[in-house]
Amino acid sequence: MNKKTILLAEDDESVRLVTTKSLQDEGYKVESVETLKTLWMLIEEGKGNILISDVMMPDGELFDILPQITELRPELPVIVISAKNNLETAISATQKGAYEYLPKPFDLEELNQLIRKALLRRDSNKESNLIGVRNNQLIIGRSSVMQDLYKSVARLSQNDLTVMIYGESGTGKELVAKALHEYSSRSSYPFIALNMAAIPKELIESELFGHEKGSFTGAYQKSEGKFKHAERGTLFLDEIGDMPIDAQTRLLRVLQEGEFSTVGGNEKIKTDIRIIAATNKDLNGLINQGSFREDLYYRLNVVPINIPPLRERKEDIPELINHFFIEALRSGLSEKKIHPDGYGILKDYDWPGNVRELENFILRISALYPEDMIDSESIRKEINKLNNNALESKKSNLYFSDIINNYFSDNINKLLEENEGEVHNYIVSIIERALISQTLNTNGGNQLKAAESLGLNRNTLRKKIIDLNIDLQSNKKNK
Ligand SMILES: Nc1ncnc2c1ncn2[C@@H]1O[C@H](COP(=O)(O)OP(=O)(O)OP(=O)(O)O)[C@@H](O)[C@H]1O
Ligand SMILES: [Mg+2]
Repeated sequence: MNKKTILLAEDDESVRLVTTKSLQDEGYKVESVETLKTLWMLIEEGKGNILISDVMMPDGELFDILPQITELRPELPVIVISAKNNLETAISATQKGAYEYLPKPFDLEELNQLIRKALLRRDSNKESNLIGVRNNQLIIGRSSVMQDLYKSVARLSQNDLTVMIYGESGTGKELVAKALHEYSSRSSYPFIALNMAAIPKELIESELFGHEKGSFTGAYQKSEGKFKHAERGTLFLDEIGDMPIDAQTRLLRVLQEGEFSTVGGNEKIKTDIRIIAATNKDLNGLINQGSFREDLYYRLNVVPINIPPLRERKEDIPELINHFFIEALRSGLSEKKIHPDGYGILKDYDWPGNVRELENFILRISALYPEDMIDSESIRKEINKLNNNALESKKSNLYFSDIINNYFSDNINKLLEENEGEVHNYIVSIIERALISQTLNTNGGNQLKAAESLGLNRNTLRKKIIDLNIDLQSNKKNK
C-alpha cells in the first residue's frame, strides 16, 4: 500500500508522541513538525498528503500562514486541532480554509475518521471565503455538543442557507442567530428580529412587509416592514410556530418568489435577505393540527440546528457562571465569586429555564449577597427557592389538567350522549360554578370582593350566580 504522509504540527511534545504512534499504527507515515517555519518548508516542498496542526505553535499562530498554505496547496486537507475550544477558533479555522476543526482533547478514532474522510474528499472541494474575524466571543461553552454547534455555525456563516433553530426556552437561540449573522458576509447590514409571539396577530403581516396608508383601520401612515429594514442583512423570525396562517401563506410566497408587496400595495419589491427562524415548539405537531403549513416548514427547515438544553451540557455551567459574574460586574455590581462547594449544587439543579435562568440566577445573587464569596449554604437556599417555584407552577397546571383529562376519559360517552349540542356550555358551566363558589367561599360570601378578585363586573357575577344556580347560603356558612 502506498502510505499517506501526515504532517503533524503539535505544540506539546507528549501529545505529539501519542498521536504519532497511534497514526503510525493506523498505517500512516507521520512527519512531526515543531515549528511553523519547518512546516512551511515542508509545505513548499510539496510534502505530505494531509496536515494536522495545532493553532498555537512556539513561533506563531497557524492561522497566520493557513491562507498561504491553502493557496499554495489547495488539495491539502488541513485539520486544525486546538485547546482553545471556542466559536472564534472554529470560525477562524473554517474561514481560513481548514478542512475540519477538532477540539482537544479528541478521540483518536475521531481523528482517524476525519483523516479518511478528508483524503476521500480532498479533490472535490475548495472554497474559502475570507471574512474579518471578530474579537467578541459571544457564545460560552466547551462541551462537545456546543463544539458541534460551533462547527455548524462556522459552516453556515459561509453561506446563505435558511436555518431553523430549535431549542427550549433560554437555550440561546437568538444568540446563535446573531452569531450566524455576525460572522457572515451580511454582517455590515442589519440583523432584524421579529418575535411572532410578541405582536398581535393582526399586525404581523404589516410588521413583516410594511403597509400603505389607509390599508387597514389604524394605518394612518405608510410604514416600512422588517423585510425592508433587513435588506441585505438577516431577518430572524422568532417563535415561528406562532405565526398566523395567513401570514405564513404570504411568507411562503415571498420565499418562493424573492419579492414581496406591502399590505395594501401592488408594487413588487425585490428582496435580498437571509432568513433564520427559531421555535421552541414541535412544528410537526402544529402541522398535524393544521396550524402550520407543511410547505413553509420545508422552506424554512433547510438546515436545522438544535441547541441542547443546559441540563445536557452541565460541564458548561462553571464557565457560564464566570461569564455572568463578569456581566454583573459590567452592569455595576461588585465582583463576586461562588465558593467552590457551591458549584456542585448548581450542577445538580436541572435548569428548566436553561442559560437564561442561570444568567438571572447569577445576576440576582450578585445583587442580593453583599459578601465577595457566596457560600454554598446561600447557594442551596437560592436553588431551593427555584425548585419550590417550579414545583408549585407544575403542580397547579398538571393537577388541573389531570383532573379534567381524567373526568373526560371516564365520562366522555355519557357526556356526549346526554348533552348533545351543549357539551361545551355544560363543561364550562361546571368549571365556572366551582370557580365562583370557591371564590365566594374564600371571601366569606361577599359578592363585591369576589367580583373584584375574579375581575368580573358585579352585575355579571350576580347574573352568573343565578344562572348557574349557586347556593349563596352554603358559601356564607362555610366561612
Ligand atoms: N452559550 C451561551 N453563552 C453565553 N450566554 C448565553 C448562552 N446561551 C444563552 N445565553 C444568554 O442567555 C439568555 C437567553 O438567550 P436567548 O435569548 O438567545 O435564548 P432563546 O433560546 O432565544 O430563549 P427564548 O426561547 O426564551 O426566546 C441571553 O441573555 C443570552 O445572552
Ligand atoms: Mg428567543
